[in-house]
Amino acid sequence: LEHKKKERAVVYSQQQIAQGIYDMWIDTSLAVQAEPGQFISVYTQNPAALLPRPISICETDKECGRLRIVYRVAGIGTAEFATYKEGQCIDVLGPLGNGFPMGAARGKRAFLMGGGIGIPPMLALAKELEETAAKEIIVGYRNSELFLADELSKYGSVHVATEDGSKGTKGNVINAIASLESGQPSAEVIFACGPLPMLRAVKKYAEEKDIPAYISLEERMACGVGACLGCVVRTKEKDHHSYVNNARICTDGPVYLASEVEIG
Ligand SMILES: Cc1cc2nc3c(=O)[nH]c(=O)nc-3n(C[C@H](O)[C@H](O)[C@H](O)COP(=O)(O)OP(=O)(O)OC[C@H]3O[C@@H](n4cnc5c(N)ncnc54)[C@H](O)[C@@H]3O)c2cc1C
Ligand code: FES
Repeated sequence: LEHKKKERAVVYSQQQIAQGIYDMWIDTSLAVQAEPGQFISVYTQNPAALLPRPISICETDKECGRLRIVYRVAGIGTAEFATYKEGQCIDVLGPLGNGFPMGAARGKRAFLMGGGIGIPPMLALAKELEETAAKEIIVGYRNSELFLADELSKYGSVHVATEDGSKGTKGNVINAIASLESGQPSAEVIFACGPLPMLRAVKKYAEEKDIPAYISLEERMACGVGACLGCVVRTKEKDHHSYVNNARICTDGPVYLASEVEIG
């Protein structure tokens, strides 16, 4: 844990960017080391909510020492974060997790796939992923509130799916890929983040097409630092230390090669 820093940070700005979705920039020294796919744990000030909430890094401004998180209000912790104003002090821990292996995309045609609150880490990745042959960014939303889509389009071609069919392809990211692929070469590497049903579909798609897919499992976590085993996922290979087919998402993940984890 020595290299993970808990520190007092300051909210630089906050705004609502869609229904229930907030965009917050935080002044913190953690920004300097933060990599796409990593997350920070944000502490609440509510004594009833003991554990910090894990939120992915959406963007960093390393020169200013500032990082951005985009989150959906899901319950007590995130509802509290949504009330924060510029200048508010907050405690954060991180950067945590392994992040996306960006070297895996060098010279390749990469598909970046994000669903719902799995979209924010894709912005950090799209921005920092360099030397790819092509970047296709496929994002799935509930409705026509396409948060972050304009920003993503600065870094690759964006393809949208909406559950209600109000924008782009009706359905999910896999449906959007089907329409994108007609006549085009398919991906050579996939990076994905989103809800479990989406990640299952991405894993299946990648296996059928024999494409390496790196998926970020934003599953429910508790301690966030490897101590409680509240976040284990079954793996194909046995862990070298414990000889069990388990990995802790918070420390070994959240990013895994899809073929190495069992997600049902
Ligand atoms: C590595 C990682 C990265 C994440 N990145 C983001 C992000 O960038 N943006 C974002 O909006 N959210 C992200 N999440 C999810 C976020 O951590 C949860 O939404 C948050 O912890 C909920 O806290 P709460 O106190 O508001 O809700 P609670 O009051 O604790 O719970 C409210 C409801 O949400 C459910 N819930 C809580 N946590 C999760 C979860 N992780 N997945 C699914 N359901 C959950 C609970 O079961 C409950 O029904 C991430 C989670 C992980 C593990
Ligand atoms: S959240 Fe406690 S071990 Fe992963």
